[in-house]
Amino acid sequence: MAIEWNDSLHLSHEHLDDDHRVMAALINKLYLSVNEDYGKSAVAAATRELLMFSAAHFGHEKGLMATHDYPELTVHLGEHKILLDELQGLIATIERDGGPVRLATVEFLDDWFAAHLRGADARFAAFLAEAGVRPVSS
Ligand SMILES: [Fe+2]
Ligand SMILES: [Fe+2]
Repeated sequence: MAIEWNDSLHLSHEHLDDDHRVMAALINKLYLSVNEDYGKSAVAAATRELLMFSAAHFGHEKGLMATHDYPELTVHLGEHKILLDELQGLIATIERDGGPVRLATVEFLDDWFAAHLRGADARFAAFLAEAGVRPVSS
């Protein structure tokens, strides 16, 4: 269900944490639009907003990884692609079917977000910290 920000999602990297907070808010906005049955166009708009922000954030992470020769770059980008593909598929489904979107359809977001931040993104933030390129959050 809705994502509650907590310490397990905090990576002590100011820029990444800021982006992740926005992503969590956009996921929650999408949940709300589905849960409150705001209608097809509102759900599609919320999904597009999340897709566009996620793509920009992933581009930022990719640039950082490339700059610092991060060894897990390919695997990490594969996880990003899963989310982008799911969101694009969701938009296509909404546009094709036109019916109400069920909450079960968007529940993968919560799992993907928590698993990616606690796993792949946490490892990347630790790598940056070790490389001495971490901006420290307040
Ligand atoms: Fe991230
Ligand atoms: Fe990531």
